[in-house]
Amino acid sequence: MIRLGVNIDHVATVRQARRIREPDPVWAVVLAELGGADQITLHLREDRRHIQDHDLDRVLATASVPVNLEMAVTDEMVAIATDRRPHSATLVPERREEVTTEGGLDVAGQPETVGRAVEALAAAGIRVSLFIDPDPGQVEAAFRTGARAVELHTGAFCEAWGTPAAEQELERLRRAAALAADKGLAVHAGHGLNVRNVRPVARIPEVEELNIGHAIVGRAIFVGLKAAVAEMKEILAEEAARR
Ligand code: PXP
Repeated sequence: MIRLGVNIDHVATVRQARRIREPDPVWAVVLAELGGADQITLHLREDRRHIQDHDLDRVLATASVPVNLEMAVTDEMVAIATDRRPHSATLVPERREEVTTEGGLDVAGQPETVGRAVEALAAAGIRVSLFIDPDPGQVEAAFRTGARAVELHTGAFCEAWGTPAAEQELERLRRAAALAADKGLAVHAGHGLNVRNVRPVARIPEVEELNIGHAIVGRAIFVGLKAAVAEMKEILAEEAARR
């Protein structure tokens, strides 16, 4: 089985376009769970461009599946996370001008800063994952921080999808997944995945969790959120059975 974390940020993106009360990401929690989501993922960005602080509180109060908070490695976010105590936290890089999370966290380049955040979060009982590029040096560095999991950035693979470079990117993901698992890290993956490109990633034997947002919320406009989540869950079940 592969856990599906549904990232509900973009429901809040639509709401923030008008800065009113709807659509409420809390409604997405309920429908995603009805569709079979194993986890709710949300990213409280420093610029609060989509998810707001009150959303985090209300999502935590509503979800009956684990909540995974994506967060930057800052004192403010560590303070919020250790106060709210989501089930897990995924540390991601953040640049204000970026459209979405571009590139993984450079753990190898700032091991002490990341290590301190991991320690503080773990001390609060939060399971910590590091969102990294599928690079052996980053996997090694992630292991040394004491994090429990890595989330491999699938963006480069998704961008290469449909070109000859895709197989090479997939191989990088496979190798990083094997190395991480060998070190005892849980292997998650995400970014840019959709109903087509998710299949080869879901077939990587070590991958136990995928976090998917944009493609599910985008498809939900047409087929409904519950159906969009159920469809992705079915694909993951099919691919897990083919491993
Ligand atoms: N995982 C992480 C760590 C992310 O930052 C994001 C984007 O917020 C996702 C997964 C989901 O990416 P997408 O919205 O492209 O499915």
